[in-house]
Amino acid sequence: MPTKKIAVIGGGTMGSGISLTAATNGIHAVVVDVNEVQLSKAKMYHEKQCARAVLKERMTQEESDVAVSKLSYVSSMQEAEGVDWAIEAATENVAIKKKLFIQMQDTFEDSVVLATNTSSISITDLASAVPEAEHRVIGMHFFNPVPVMKLVEVIKGKKTSEETTAATIALSESMGKIPVPANDFAGFVSNRVLMPMINEAFHAWSDGVAEPEDIDSIMKLGCAFPMGPLRLADYIGLDVCRDIMMVMYEGLNQNEKYLPNEKLVALVEAGNLGDKSGQGVFNYEKG
Ligand code: NAI
Repeated sequence: MPTKKIAVIGGGTMGSGISLTAATNGIHAVVVDVNEVQLSKAKMYHEKQCARAVLKERMTQEESDVAVSKLSYVSSMQEAEGVDWAIEAATENVAIKKKLFIQMQDTFEDSVVLATNTSSISITDLASAVPEAEHRVIGMHFFNPVPVMKLVEVIKGKKTSEETTAATIALSESMGKIPVPANDFAGFVSNRVLMPMINEAFHAWSDGVAEPEDIDSIMKLGCAFPMGPLRLADYIGLDVCRDIMMVMYEGLNQNEKYLPNEKLVALVEAGNLGDKSGQGVFNYEKG
């Protein structure tokens, strides 16, 4: 049966994008976030994106109204009633996510797939928090910005069932995405390749090889990247990048090549997280 209503746990950068993409593809989405400010931001983002799509003639006013009407915002999972799918998109932290999986298992019906948008954490490890539901746990890794990026990396845990996998592929496709499988190693494929490059760009900056603008220009002009690695790190969120690198460091034999660069860590510790805080490697306060 096609998925009709999903709960998206976490209404930050990714949760906002996943819920919007569901709604514009006819699926109801309930955004669950413990932070009320984040819920208001998600709602504002949805309304702005839908209004923009009408202006750009990518949607009619009626389609935009329908999409907005499919979105709702709550601060606890218990308020997300009647969902037939859950996607966890909260902070990249094993302890937080395991607690959320236990809560999801306790709150939602036994038939609900418990997917996670984790960038790097082992699906088998997250599933171990809910032994009775392990067959329903799967990695469903969307990319930022979700409404635009086509890929969903699909990662099975050791006990993920074929039924769960097939349903995940079907849901990804019904959201206009292209699902591609990856095995359950820290960072999967995308971040295994991307994060060392971002980290290396920080090392190049720290070593004085070039200034951030020039590092990005060199990679854009010389390697045909649409966005330089430091600009991309700000866009992803420097805290998210640091957390992913730490998961990869721990999960891939504590290989030091995954340890986040000191400048990256210092920016995060100073609250300079990138686009979402207005300042990261670059400044975004004036847009
Ligand atoms: P974010 O920091 O923008 O948002 C995380 C949200 O989770 C926050 O709004 C926070 O209030 C909420 N949250 C934390 N604990 C919660 C709880 N117990 N219950 C409900 N909500 C809770 O982070 P972002 O970037 O959206 O990342 C979310 C997940 O998606 C992470 O696992 C990250 O690794 C992954 N991801 C991030 C990408 C990116 O480009 N930022 C790309 C693909 C995956």
